[in-house]
Amino acid sequence: MNRRRTAILIMMSTLGLGLVTALALSQEGGFIEKGRRLYVRHCAACHGVDGKGNGPAAVSLKTPPPDLTRLQPEGETFPIYRVMNVIEGEKVVPAHGSREMPIWGTIFRRARGEALMRSDIYALARYLEAIQAKRSP
Ligand code: HEC
Repeated sequence: MNRRRTAILIMMSTLGLGLVTALALSQEGGFIEKGRRLYVRHCAACHGVDGKGNGPAAVSLKTPPPDLTRLQPEGETFPIYRVMNVIEGEKVVPAHGSREMPIWGTIFRRARGEALMRSDIYALARYLEAIQAKRSP
């Protein structure tokens, strides 16, 4: 292969990679933004606009809503599957007494169908991942 052809090939593959990355990034941003909107609408009343558990409805609950900016244990990756399961709520057996948080899986499925319910819960989890408190080592 001559040099010019190699250069063109490298250029084209770099361009392609850039495009794929840009697309992936805008998808990512899309989920987080969608999750943020869902969060403000459905979750902030209890968990607070900032996710720290101080929403206006928190005082009327027996269990204080947990701080959602601290779901990621130090030095570990964000537990996205656990978080999605908790939000969905249909397979979760509460440790003590009954759960106070609504079962969002059932609510979103009734309103939007199975597939959109899944993507809503995924978006919510990605939003929560984005608001995790950064811990200094
Ligand atoms: C009615 C108040 C209320 C609303 C609304 C609510 N939550 Fe909760 N949430 C709670 C409470 C209380 C708990 C603690 C478990 C329990 O008692 O149900 C909890 C627990 C959680 C947990 C588990 C945290 C952990 O440490 O494992 C997650 C994640 C969560 N909520 C996310 C959400 C999301 C996302 C929404 C919106 C779709 C939402 N919550 C809406 C009250 C609420």
